[in-house]
Amino acid sequence: MPTWLTYLTFSVFIVLTATALFFFVVTRGALLMRAATGSVDDASHVYPIYSNMRLIRMIDFQPIIAAILLFQYDRLVTTICNGLQHMDLRGKKVLITSCAFGNVIPRVVTASIKSGASKVLIADIIKNELDHAQSKLRPFAGKLELLEENAVAMKQADGSVDANVIFFLLHELPHHLKGQALSEACRVLAPGGKLYLAEFHRPDLWVLRALSWTYFKVFEPLGLALWDTHDPLKQLEALGGFTCERRTVFFGNFQTIVATKNPVA
Ligand SMILES: C[S@@+](CC[C@H](N)C(=O)[O-])C[C@H]1O[C@@H](n2cnc3c(N)ncnc32)[C@H](O)[C@@H]1O
Repeated sequence: MPTWLTYLTFSVFIVLTATALFFFVVTRGALLMRAATGSVDDASHVYPIYSNMRLIRMIDFQPIIAAILLFQYDRLVTTICNGLQHMDLRGKKVLITSCAFGNVIPRVVTASIKSGASKVLIADIIKNELDHAQSKLRPFAGKLELLEENAVAMKQADGSVDANVIFFLLHELPHHLKGQALSEACRVLAPGGKLYLAEFHRPDLWVLRALSWTYFKVFEPLGLALWDTHDPLKQLEALGGFTCERRTVFFGNFQTIVATKNPVA
């Protein structure tokens, strides 16, 4: 092998290993450390990459975020935004339950306002995430309400919003909170309102399934339950009163679910 190729292979290996190590430390590694030190509160499942402002700013770049979602990010956000744009949201409220990196929040806010929404509420358990989201939303200032709230115990009244968007939150929640977050998301929806959910899904291809399984085991073990025991579609159907539609993309690796709250009879 030529010397330059040896150096290149070695450098790529070092960069990939360092990146994986960095992400492990700022995600699962930090949670293991918290568990070991007995530091437990409502936000102890939240990775430092979502709570530390320096880390938030370091990681929140569209190409990085797109790569983490295997370049399906844009497609998933487009599905949600198309759904919102087909709704009549005149004078109504839209809720975004938990912030996320990339342009999902500005795009969801834009789509909601184009459909006539009078207010977009953005709820997150971490204040830094809300501040960071706000910095991307300056043109919409008058239409926004930022709420420091826990997705599993929202302060909003029953039936108070007409659309609710949850983008890749469930796989990060402890199992007993996944169902509670869905139940809260549904409670705050008005009859006829829609919950838009984007999440990981069990891949159809065995190669992708093996890679994905390894990723979850190492970095995000709470995500694997979405494949079976905590399938969000089954959990939503079990709640009753919703018509649900699931679409999977990228060989089944990701899913979007639209759950429409049945009108009161
Ligand atoms: C939506 S998830 C991950 C999104 C995805 N990995 C991304 O950024 O593309 C991360 C967000 O969920 C928030 N979060 C976690 N648990 C929460 C809870 N119980 N209630 C509200 N927000 C929560 C975190 O603070 C963080 O802002």
